[in-house]
Amino acid sequence: MSVPAEVVEKARKLREEIEFHNVRYYRLDDPLITDAEYDRLMAELLAIEARYPELVTPDSPTQRVGAPPVEAFTEVRHEVPMLSLENAFSEEDLTAFDRRVRKELSRDTLEYVAEPKLDGLAVNLLYQDGVLVQAATRGDGEVGEDVTHNVRAVRAIPLRLKGEDFPDRFEARGEVFMPKRGFLALNERARRSGEKTFVNPRNAAAGSLRQLDARVTASRPLSFYAYGIGAFPDARLPATQHELLESLQRWGLPVSPEYRVVRGAAGCLEYYRSLGERRHDLPYDIDGVVYKVDDLKAQAELGFVSRAPRWAIAHKFPAEEARTRVVGIDVQVGRTGVLTPVARLEPVFVGGVTVTNATLHNADEIRRKDVRPGDTVIVRRAGDVIPEIVRVVPELRKPGAEPFRMPEVCPECGSAVEAEPGEVLARCSGGLYCPAQHKESIKHFASRRAMDIEGLGDKLVDQLVGRKLIATVADLYRLDLDRLAGLDRMGEKSAANLLAALERSKRTTLARFLYALGIRDVGEVTAKVLSEHFGSLEALMEATEEELLAVADVGPVVSRHIRLFFAQPHNREVISQLLACGVSWEKPAPAPRKLPLQGLVFVLTGTLASMSRDEARARLEALGAKCTGSVSRNTSFVVAGSEPGSKLDKASELGVPVLDEKGFLDLLERGRP
Ligand code: IVH
Repeated sequence: MSVPAEVVEKARKLREEIEFHNVRYYRLDDPLITDAEYDRLMAELLAIEARYPELVTPDSPTQRVGAPPVEAFTEVRHEVPMLSLENAFSEEDLTAFDRRVRKELSRDTLEYVAEPKLDGLAVNLLYQDGVLVQAATRGDGEVGEDVTHNVRAVRAIPLRLKGEDFPDRFEARGEVFMPKRGFLALNERARRSGEKTFVNPRNAAAGSLRQLDARVTASRPLSFYAYGIGAFPDARLPATQHELLESLQRWGLPVSPEYRVVRGAAGCLEYYRSLGERRHDLPYDIDGVVYKVDDLKAQAELGFVSRAPRWAIAHKFPAEEARTRVVGIDVQVGRTGVLTPVARLEPVFVGGVTVTNATLHNADEIRRKDVRPGDTVIVRRAGDVIPEIVRVVPELRKPGAEPFRMPEVCPECGSAVEAEPGEVLARCSGGLYCPAQHKESIKHFASRRAMDIEGLGDKLVDQLVGRKLIATVADLYRLDLDRLAGLDRMGEKSAANLLAALERSKRTTLARFLYALGIRDVGEVTAKVLSEHFGSLEALMEATEEELLAVADVGPVVSRHIRLFFAQPHNREVISQLLACGVSWEKPAPAPRKLPLQGLVFVLTGTLASMSRDEARARLEALGAKCTGSVSRNTSFVVAGSEPGSKLDKASELGVPVLDEKGFLDLLERGRP
């Protein structure tokens, strides 16, 4: 049975359309149609191909969903060996490379293509008459594995090229990689379903591409950039590397938008520095820069030594991961009593600095990573991020290494350690009795964004508390030259400076003062909101739970912490001493604009005919109201659509007013209750 011409035409059109949307979605990050519409196009094409299997072509987008599993990969001998790159680890290495190349070519100056060194795996793509017919991994450079089915599942790689001016048969080479965002999402999914996670995007990319079941590859967020060629007809070669990249791009192969043509070693180094600064903002991992002599004739002249071309070099960024040993695990006690385990490390140079500590966050994290004292670990320090332990190297664990256990009493004061239900954090219950919490709370009080007492650093606080010169933050304002004189590294001048700074800090704002008190869960933003809402310290100190809950941002937990704090006679005493010492502020300006429903709490139940629940919530919130999920005494109104649930019963039980849909719409219209 021959295939009707209109079906052939329909299949062709569908393929074209789907590929167009693939590019919008996977390459440009700018889809024009919804996922459902895309799926519909795909389903239509699949149906045609199921009916007329002879219409299935290797470049059909249906081939991307992944072929059924194979037993093993077959080997592919590369027509042109896939080389590796020499490395430069310093600016000197790079200038030496440039000097060598210029000498060899007898040139004064050379242009290079500079581009990111992607952290993925190299593939060779064979295109015949514009159709992808074979894809292979690098393998040992001579022989790789046939991963055609898998590569077809990578949406960024075109199954059919665009335009007409490509050679009948040629190979493009480039890197398959996994963007950071996709990597994090993939690992998050794996964690949730209890599967093994990947160590880094590179491993994830390699593991995803080398799958016997290409359907698995299809489900992984892989991407691709082309950076060169393999077999390619000489007669069709342009004069330069950058023109080659332009051609590949014109034919529909994605090329890194970061590549540049630069001049001389100075141009290379400038590119290296500027890319290094943006490294962490790129959506994918890179581990350096690759420079390639731009002139292709010069490339041919230079040739290669053993396995690496003499016309290219990889300039590596400092490693961000390194191996070291955990000497011990300390437990630090923070201002609010939270116990944080910290790994003490054998010093190691990583990410450009020497690292001796890495936070382990909490007991859950240690359990998950199973870090034990004595373990060999991989430490990571990326950019300005605090160093952390990525994983343990289990093969190097010494026999008898004991799992870490969170202490049951505070290592600083011996008070019991509590883990609140539903919280992963362990806390010392000692409060200000605990010297660690005590010192940390004074440091916090003095910090820049709180009372801003210049010159009152950590070391000084440790001394002041250690020598019992201060017991509370109010005592800071009773310090004098006599008492400061005996401290280490405290000359007369710095003592006078400190006293002046203390004096200056007395003039503050209510928001800063509230933040400085260190009430649990009252950060800078909440402190500001509270100060604007209540206008005075007295009003806040006497606020009832209802009044606190009416503040945007304040939920039951925060409200409880605020009330607990002000209920403590000790805290009230310190506050009155601070005020007596002269700490003061001007009355805060009220919140810029009070929204009409501010302070009101709504609960939505049942179905509204005129809008979705999300929309109703958004409209209420736009007017300043809060929406919560359950009815309580704090609920101002329940809005009941058709078929309301038990929330309506609860409302009548508690005497909460109920609005029907009309009443609700009227309220939105009026903008006030
Ligand atoms: S060119 C003849 N360019 O690095 C030159 N390689 O260390 C061969 N790589 O196997 C490769 N980004 O997997 C080149 N922009 C780039 C690259 C790059 C990453 C990888 C590639 C190669 C390895 C060599």
